[in-house]
This record gives sequence, structure tokens and C-alpha cells, in this order.
Amino acid sequence: MKCNIVTIPGDGIGPEIVREACLVLEKTGEVFGHEFHFQPILMGGCSIDRYGVPLTDEALETAKKADAVLLGAVGGKVGNSKWYDVAPNLRPEAGLLAIRKGLGLFANLRPAYLYQELAKACPLKPELIGDGFDMIIVRELTGGLYFGERHTDVVDGVETAVDTLTYNEKEIRRIAVKAFEIAMKRRKKVTSVDKANVLDSSRLWRKVTEEVAKDYPEVELEHMLVDNCAMQLVMNPRQFDVILTENMFGDILSDEASMITGSIGMLSSASLNETKFGLYEPSHGSAPDIAGQDIANPIATILSAAMMLSYSFDLDREAQAIRDAVQKVLTEGYRTADIYQEGFTKVGCGKMGELIRDRIVK
Ligand code: IPM
Ligand code: MG
Repeated sequence: MKCNIVTIPGDGIGPEIVREACLVLEKTGEVFGHEFHFQPILMGGCSIDRYGVPLTDEALETAKKADAVLLGAVGGKVGNSKWYDVAPNLRPEAGLLAIRKGLGLFANLRPAYLYQELAKACPLKPELIGDGFDMIIVRELTGGLYFGERHTDVVDGVETAVDTLTYNEKEIRRIAVKAFEIAMKRRKKVTSVDKANVLDSSRLWRKVTEEVAKDYPEVELEHMLVDNCAMQLVMNPRQFDVILTENMFGDILSDEASMITGSIGMLSSASLNETKFGLYEPSHGSAPDIAGQDIANPIATILSAAMMLSYSFDLDREAQAIRDAVQKVLTEGYRTADIYQEGFTKVGCGKMGELIRDRIVK
């Protein structure tokens, strides 16, 4: 199989982790007989520095023509970078939002599970995690507060900022269908998270989700308020299988879910449209503090590449080979700094990538 992959190294640790993921894909291609072609484009702060905008039309068009996109991370230090104090549409993050919207990537899948090897890094008490948890957050990605009208004005002499949260039934239905389809392949439980005790958009969310549930009688649907969900995630994470939620709640809950796995450096994500096309990226950010020091954890990006193989290219065996290689490296005791504990072997970003590559077998 020949696959054309557009890569977006981005900012901060982005370039180093994307490099490792590409090398892992190349090795997987060698072992299984596929050709992966990589074409890099600029997005985020690096694009601002070069072109004055976080994503050029040309870069977006290039991404549209690819079979899939692999992204590192974009952005600098929040509140303290040359890209922060500028108009919202000129910030690095605006590139991310523009590519999500431009490619129609409405479904963001963020798996969060606990590797037994990292159980000690989980901040929860052992009795709360038992033999581990395995959930996936299905986050709506092209609607809600992120894309509603926003402006800042002076109203009656007082500076006033407005962000609007809008969802229509179509947007809710398609993401709900995605969540139920995923649940059918898992433990058949969907927890739909909203704030229906306050928000109209959440009431519509509940109504549409219940309609969709009728087409999936085998799947159990429960509704949970977002504040309660934040609490349940740290009290009893094992109750969750598929968490379905809107854009902003999903942003927040996915950071929380990833942290209880021990490190946000381990978690992959996929952003999909209605077709097989997808953008794959680690759930973590650009970590500008540790950029360029060869200490970042490339595993989340490597696992995102594995998600690409199965979701966009139906290469499930190949994806499994990557996941097995990651598992092996952890079992053998190799750790990057973020997941390091005494008694293990500390390795850098490049070495971690190499160890994983060397363990990819048919
Ligand atoms: C994420 C990030 C982005 C988001 C930021 C960088 C705009 O936090 O992918 O979770 O909020 O969606
Ligand atoms: Mg986030």
C-alpha cells in the first residue's frame, strides 16, 4: 500500500516527536511492505514566523490532498510568548482550529487507558484503579464555544467579552453516531456528558443522543453532568467505556483522563471526518519548556501514527505491531523523563523512538 501523509511538526517538541513517529512508520512500512510518503507543511508559530499567519491556504490545500495528516503540536508558552499577545486569528492555536474546521474533522477520539507498567505513576490510590481502566473520549471538535461568534466590546463603559456556544441537531447526531459505533466494538456503554441542568445546548444534546441510542439497543446510554464526570473520573475511572461530549467539556475532561493514566505523554488521538481521512496527533501540547532537549516522550505521537494506520488505512495488524512494540519497550523498563521512576532505564526522545522501531515485527 502507498500512503501520502502530510506531516505538521509544528512548534516546541513537535518536530522531535513527529520525527520519531515518521521513523516508526517507515520501519513498519519496511517490515510489512508499505510505502509511506511524508510531506511536511508549516502550521502554528513557525508558520506565523514565516508567513505571518498560523496556517496558509496553500498548507490547508496540501493537507486536504493527503491520505492522512500527522501533527506534533503547536503553540508557545501561554501568556508568555511572542505569539500570545496578538489577534485571536493570528495565534498558533488558530491554525489548529482552522485545520480542524477546514478538513471537517468533527470527531476527536482520545483513548485513555492505564498501562500496568505505569500504574505507579497514576496519581490515584491503587484501590481506585484496581486492574486498570480503558476508556475513550469522543469529543465533538468543530462546534460549540470554539467556533461560536466571539467579540470583545465596551458596553456601558465596561469591557465585555462574548463567546457563544451553539450546537444544532445535525452536529450532535453525527458525533453521537460515532460514539455509539465505537461503543459497539468495545464494552457497549456510552456516557454522554453535558450540563443539561443549565444549558439549552446540553438539553438538545441529551434529546438527540437519546434518539440515536434507539438505533443501538445493545449499547447502554447514561447521561452525566460534566461537573460530576470530572469527579467520577478520579473517583471511579473504571466505570467509563465511551465518554461522548461537546468540544469544550471534551478538551477539559480529556486532559484529566490522560493525567490519571500516569502521563499525558502517552496518549494518542485521532480527529476524523465522515470519510476515512483523519488528522492524528498526541493529546498533549507543544511543551516549549523542554523543546529541543531530546527529553520529550514520543510515545503519544507514535501511538497516534498507529491510530492512523487502523482508522485511515485499515492496517490493523501494522497498528498492533506498533502498539506491541511500545508495550515491549515499557515492559523492558525503558522510560522517558515524564514517566521515569527509580529502578528503570531513562532514555531520551530519539532513543525511545529507536527502541520502539527495533521491536516492530510481523
Ligand atoms: C487540544 C488543545 C487545543 C484545544 C488548543 C491548543 C486549541 O488543548 O487539542 O486539546 O483546546 O482543542
Ligand atoms: Mg486540550
